[in-house]
Amino acid sequence: MNCFSCLSSSKEKDERNAATTSAGTNTDGSSSTDAPASSSAPPENPVENSPLPKQFSYQELVVATNNFRDVIGEGGFGIVYKGFLERTEQEVAVKQLKSNLKGEQGNKEFNDEVMFLGRLCHPNLINLVGSCADGEHRLIVYEFMPLGSLTVHLFDLKQGQQSLDWFTRMRIAVGVAQGLEYLHEKVNPPVIFRDLKPSNILLDENFNPKLSDFGLARLGPEGDETHVSTRVRGTYGYHAPEYFATGRLKVKSDVYTFGVVLLELISGKRATDLLRLANDTNLVTWGRQIFRDKSRHPPLLDALIKDNISPECLSRAFVVALVCLSEDVSARPRMADVVAALEPLAVRPNENLSSISLPPLPDGMIIPEDGPSYGREDCRIV
Ligand SMILES: Nc1ncnc2c1ncn2[C@@H]1O[C@H](COP(=O)(O)OP(=O)(O)OP(=O)(O)O)[C@@H](O)[C@H]1O
Ligand SMILES: [Mg+2]
Repeated sequence: MNCFSCLSSSKEKDERNAATTSAGTNTDGSSSTDAPASSSAPPENPVENSPLPKQFSYQELVVATNNFRDVIGEGGFGIVYKGFLERTEQEVAVKQLKSNLKGEQGNKEFNDEVMFLGRLCHPNLINLVGSCADGEHRLIVYEFMPLGSLTVHLFDLKQGQQSLDWFTRMRIAVGVAQGLEYLHEKVNPPVIFRDLKPSNILLDENFNPKLSDFGLARLGPEGDETHVSTRVRGTYGYHAPEYFATGRLKVKSDVYTFGVVLLELISGKRATDLLRLANDTNLVTWGRQIFRDKSRHPPLLDALIKDNISPECLSRAFVVALVCLSEDVSARPRMADVVAALEPLAVRPNENLSSISLPPLPDGMIIPEDGPSYGREDCRIV
């Protein structure tokens, strides 16, 4: 098995992060494993001088976090604290594995996250600063993302907090798509992220997004294999239907999940919300209903978006989301096509220009026959 294509050339880095087992192959052509990668093969295309993730002692992280004083978030894995590394003068986020998760599964997620992040590098993936496996303690140290997660800016706005404008939302969508494109199309074998959702999209000071949480990531199928078989994990409302029904995880399962997140960015609505009216509880079902009836498009847009967006631009973003959400896996586009389709929407028009012509959708983006006819037309920002 090959290693990822963007790796540290250091043998030391491989050894440090060796939480790996080789994957087995099933008779049905699937790769049935929850093991992420083998560390035995030499890295392809090594990246020289990439900083090595550091092994911290628990005491070093006690000092860095001022005895775990400043909580910045909490998730299923554990609590996240703000920290500061004196030696490198770096702000960091330190995630501590919950004590009740310190069994096999918790350890596996910890090892997988450290292994994946230690070997992958892309501007739209969170940077792993280091980790700590000291006695019973399991902690992961990341670069600090000052604007926190997308959730805070999309759904959990504080009083007086400005909502994201259209172009920032589209820029976030493009950055996330580029991160997935790297995992799916630039890394060999591909990596399936599996847990895309707003809380796993962190934002730097310029709203550039980075994917975080690789504890559920898996190596994708190789050769003639079409999927990997694994227990259904991830977050309800974001699963691709074929994965949820069968546990067969495909690279294109991530593309579906991206479609859910893009709909959330457009609408400002959560993927699932039991407080919404019965037929609106599930965002995808609701989105598909609107898709069939073009006249209902305006209510799709988050009321908090005040930018003047042409219907064509809104339709373009909506069409891309819906194509990603195709039930037919083969109809879902590659992430490279998603990037190409969305990039023009993320360009803020120059004030002197009354409109901007946008290129047609890439050929790989096939609009369903029962969908609206627009989408390939030029899209104008007015
Ligand atoms: N590197 C970071 N920089 C800044 N804030 C972070 C960082 N990592 C995590 N956070 C904050 O901590 C919160 C909790 O993150 P965590 O990944 O533990 O859980 P989650 O994604 O919210 O939920 P889940 O366990 O379902 O993945 C995030 O939503 C974010 O606000
Ligand atoms: Mg998370």
